[in-house]
Amino acid sequence: MSNAFSAFKLSDKVYWVGAIDWGLRNFHGYRTSRGSTYNAFLVLGEKVTLIDTVKPKFYDEMMSRIRTVIDPAEIKYIISNHSEMDHSGAIPLVVKDWNIEKVFASPKGVEALNEHFELGDDILETVKTGDTLDIGGATFSFIETRMLHWPDSMFAFYAEEGILFSNDAFGMHLATAEKYIDEVDPWIVRYEAAKYYANILLHLSPIVLNLLKKLPSYNLDIKMIAPDHGPIFRRPQDIQQILNWYQEWAEQKPTQKAVVIYDTMWESTARMASAVADGLIAGGAKVELMPLEGAHRSDVVTELLDAGALLVGSPTMNNQIYPTVADVMNYIKGLKPKNLVGGSFGSHGWSGEATKHLDAMMEEIKIELVKPGIIHKYVPTKDALMACRELGLAVAAKLKSVG
Ligand code: FEO
Repeated sequence: MSNAFSAFKLSDKVYWVGAIDWGLRNFHGYRTSRGSTYNAFLVLGEKVTLIDTVKPKFYDEMMSRIRTVIDPAEIKYIISNHSEMDHSGAIPLVVKDWNIEKVFASPKGVEALNEHFELGDDILETVKTGDTLDIGGATFSFIETRMLHWPDSMFAFYAEEGILFSNDAFGMHLATAEKYIDEVDPWIVRYEAAKYYANILLHLSPIVLNLLKKLPSYNLDIKMIAPDHGPIFRRPQDIQQILNWYQEWAEQKPTQKAVVIYDTMWESTARMASAVADGLIAGGAKVELMPLEGAHRSDVVTELLDAGALLVGSPTMNNQIYPTVADVMNYIKGLKPKNLVGGSFGSHGWSGEATKHLDAMMEEIKIELVKPGIIHKYVPTKDALMACRELGLAVAAKLKSVG
């Protein structure tokens, strides 16, 4: 039978059989401008094993790819590294349609798979850190990676070929025809890997640092890292690069870069943002100015990943922070960035509470306020713009002292 979709051979025993979601633009609130992939892998042992699956709507695509390698009836085992539905969603369909003997998952994974799909304890089998699984001609060991990025997450390491199936970790939302990182434009790789880290893993940075510290103790001879989103790392320098980036992003050391975000009703807060940016530049800081009419929350946190300062401008609307600004600030709060300094500013009409609310929110996020928020009624005067410039200069000076 002919098939619309092909598998991609990674080695004699390992095939990529996932799905490419070219049109994905929203991954639970994260703008995925370049789509994504859901990587599933087929490992040919005596017990043919499927590592992770795809969203349910891509089940047919995955099965089509599998059929180019084997008869799906030969699949006996599934290893579920993570129960979020972009990877587990097709598991119940595979189990229903084929003769699957066991689904292996971490202790929390078994719980979560039952809570999602009621797969039942007969088919589910728990594996823990240090456990091994021999599928006949291929051996796996497991490392639980709790909270990276769900409590159930784990890595499966295929020892004979040194392939680390890392699930979400080291992934990126990037739909490409290329299967390997070294075939993709390095700037796109860096940007999308950073965007993924900022939006998915930033708030879990202490756990990332702990994992990176412990990883050498597992004595894994890693020849390839195969995440569940985006291309695969096969060259030693690319493997080292992504580990170095994770270390850098998790440490969040302050830099000389300032991110300025704002929205505006009648261009007054926009003028104030420009004056703040000018002060930052004059003070020697690098500036990324992001009007929220165009910039998405997920792009803002990506820029914040290697920044040392956040400056936020908001008009006051109905005594509150302007809705687009409140949305982004709420998102930033959940991702818990560290080591930032900052400040707020904004124009208002008959009352001006936005900067007061913003300053309180920034203190909650543990952003060190360099000055109290600057508010101005209606259109900013020269003095008001000078105050904004002074804020920029003060933040740039603070960055020099901490960077
Ligand atoms: Fe790609 Fe946490 O799922």
